Amino acid sequence: MGQKLHSLMETKRLVYLVAVVFAVFMMFQYLEFPYGDVISSLFSANSPQKLKNESFPPKDSSQIPQIVKNITHFHGSNYTKPVSIPSILLPPSISPSSPTTLNTTTQSDPKIDIDTSKSFHDFDKSSSANEGPQVNGSNDHGTMGEVVTISEMREMLGHNRASFRSMKPRWSSAVDQELLDAKFQIENAPFIENDLTLDPSLYVNVSRFKRSYELMEKTLKVYIYKEGEKPIFHQPQAVLKGIYASEGWFMKHMKASKHFVTKKPKEAHLFYLPFSSRMLEEKLYVVDSHTHKNLIQYLKKYLDLISGRYSFWNRTSGSDHFLVACHDWAPSETKKYMNNCIRAMCNSDVKNEGFELGKDVALPETTIQSSKNPLKQFGGQPPSKRSTLAFFAGRMHGDLRPILLHHWENKDPEIKIFKKLPKSKNNKNYIEYMKTSKFCICAKGYEVNSPRVVEAIFYGCVPVIISDNFAPPFFEVLNWESFAVFLKEKDVPNLKNILVSISDSRYLVMQERVKLVQQHFLWHVKPVKYDIFHMILHSIWYNRVFRVNPR
Ligand SMILES: *[C@@H]1O[C@H](CO)[C@@H](O)[C@H](O)[C@H]1NC(C)=O
Ligand SMILES: *[C@@H]1O[C@H](CO)[C@@H](O)[C@H](O)[C@H]1NC(C)=O
Ligand SMILES: *[C@@H]1O[C@H](CO)[C@@H](O)[C@H](O)[C@H]1NC(C)=O
Ligand SMILES: *[C@@H]1O[C@H](CO)[C@@H](O)[C@H](O)[C@H]1NC(C)=O
Ligand SMILES: *[C@@H]1O[C@H](CO)[C@@H](O)[C@H](O)[C@H]1NC(C)=O
Ligand SMILES: *[C@@H]1O[C@H](CO)[C@@H](O)[C@H](O)[C@H]1NC(C)=O
Ligand SMILES: *[C@@H]1O[C@H](CO)[C@@H](O)[C@H](O)[C@H]1NC(C)=O
Repeated sequence: MGQKLHSLMETKRLVYLVAVVFAVFMMFQYLEFPYGDVISSLFSANSPQKLKNESFPPKDSSQIPQIVKNITHFHGSNYTKPVSIPSILLPPSISPSSPTTLNTTTQSDPKIDIDTSKSFHDFDKSSSANEGPQVNGSNDHGTMGEVVTISEMREMLGHNRASFRSMKPRWSSAVDQELLDAKFQIENAPFIENDLTLDPSLYVNVSRFKRSYELMEKTLKVYIYKEGEKPIFHQPQAVLKGIYASEGWFMKHMKASKHFVTKKPKEAHLFYLPFSSRMLEEKLYVVDSHTHKNLIQYLKKYLDLISGRYSFWNRTSGSDHFLVACHDWAPSETKKYMNNCIRAMCNSDVKNEGFELGKDVALPETTIQSSKNPLKQFGGQPPSKRSTLAFFAGRMHGDLRPILLHHWENKDPEIKIFKKLPKSKNNKNYIEYMKTSKFCICAKGYEVNSPRVVEAIFYGCVPVIISDNFAPPFFEVLNWESFAVFLKEKDVPNLKNILVSISDSRYLVMQERVKLVQQHFLWHVKPVKYDIFHMILHSIWYNRVFRVNPR
């Protein structure tokens, strides 16, 4: 009896001790993270995680205790998500700077300049033991050289077009012949020297683009599956704001299109899988689960449903099906079961997750501030009133931005490179810089894509894209180098030299072209010819046409 009592007392003491330790940790957490995100996320797995702070990567990664490194280790395609380990489980002393406490995942208020913070693999790159910053860019994917330049991407695209065809359909269909005819007509497009609406310098081949666009308007029919439950499927209005808005706006316009949508799947050239990658993450990702396998399974089940119910998927193994997804995880979520589909994705890394130029489509990432008025704040100053040479502001996501800051923060009065700017109403300061800078730096974050590319164009600023292996939007048709500057990540120290080497007259030409290309990057409440909706659809159509392989 006495012994029992004794051990009971022991247990009580132990419980007490644990409680005290826990309380102390909680207090630390609370002091360090005034918003208490970590704590709340611990207790409410389904409440959207708020933005947390990021001091990333740690200045001296060798100081991160081994346990953190091991936790954050990422193997190729195994998605043990390294983020969101409750920092409460780690000694507070390592919490603030360790990558595990990164402010990640969903933004509850995706209004303004918030970057995607979604990567699985970039954590690994920046936190693996003491190899300072990598300037050769991402490299653990694929077998190509270190960096694929824009001209090499051109070659890849040409090569892919020439060599790859989608699988021969299991049985023939009249639509295959229509696509083949379209291909012939595009390849033999009448030569256009000048066009009132399309400046030839902006396009890879304006004759082909114009012909293809006309044929799309004349021919294309899209079937949208009715299956799929809201809000992940069929609910565009959930994603009309913030940095993922292009998937929401596309879905909204596609569903509403009387012109392109057909109710008869037999006459469809393309089949749309109408889901939102953003809602998929928001609804199904289990905070701290370190995995998105369940998200992949959810999509797999959907495919099983439509391939069981209809014959269309099986006819082409999905190669006439497409998806439009802006979330960073979209490539990895879709690469296994939807790999044959035409995948329009913001995260268009030609060396990652099987992104295939000529099949997949680089979807523009657009920041939408007002879902009522997507053109709010559109435009900027004329070149003479652009007083800042180069501007960047943003969170220290990924391994490149700290390098950019290291070289250029407060180093030169003409170069304004900041961490995230202090909050201002409607993001006023950020937008003001975009409107009054000559060049806007679009430095990759965790992933290659950044909303800055389209933001720069939107505000009339010449984009300077620093993101190795990033395929820019509408790469099939736009001659990006005529209106944007591409810098290799390793050339960050030469940023200023490179920019000042661009003559004033050349700059004026580029800026003029930025203004001319704007029409292709604008969302309208009602779609208009050549706008971003039609351009996205066109790139999907174009890739379908050039891969057609009739029986
Ligand atoms: C998250 O970010 C906010 C500001 O955006 C910061 O105040 C907070 O401390 C951060 N939380 C963590 C866990 O770093
Ligand atoms: C992040 O936290 C650090 C200190 O941990 C602080 O200096 C910095 O201002 C914070 N950044 C943001 C965006 O809140
Ligand atoms: C971390 O992983 C390495 C290699 O896998 C291993 O040698 C080391 O013991 C691990 N460290 C800890 C703390 O688990
Ligand atoms: C993923 O994990 C499985 C089992 O854990 C392992 O067999 C496989 O090799 C891993 N894949 C990669 C790419 O590391
Ligand atoms: C990065 O570049 C350096 C020097 O150019 C080279 O030695 C190294 O192998 C490269 N690393 C990778 C992973 O490509
Ligand atoms: C553009 O395509 C058309 C049709 O294929 C071709 O005749 C023309 O030579 C091409 N122009 C350029 C500049 O490649
Ligand atoms: C399509 O193929 C799958 C797998 O082979 C099969 O289970 C399914 O029944 C097929 N669908 C139709 C409509 O025949």
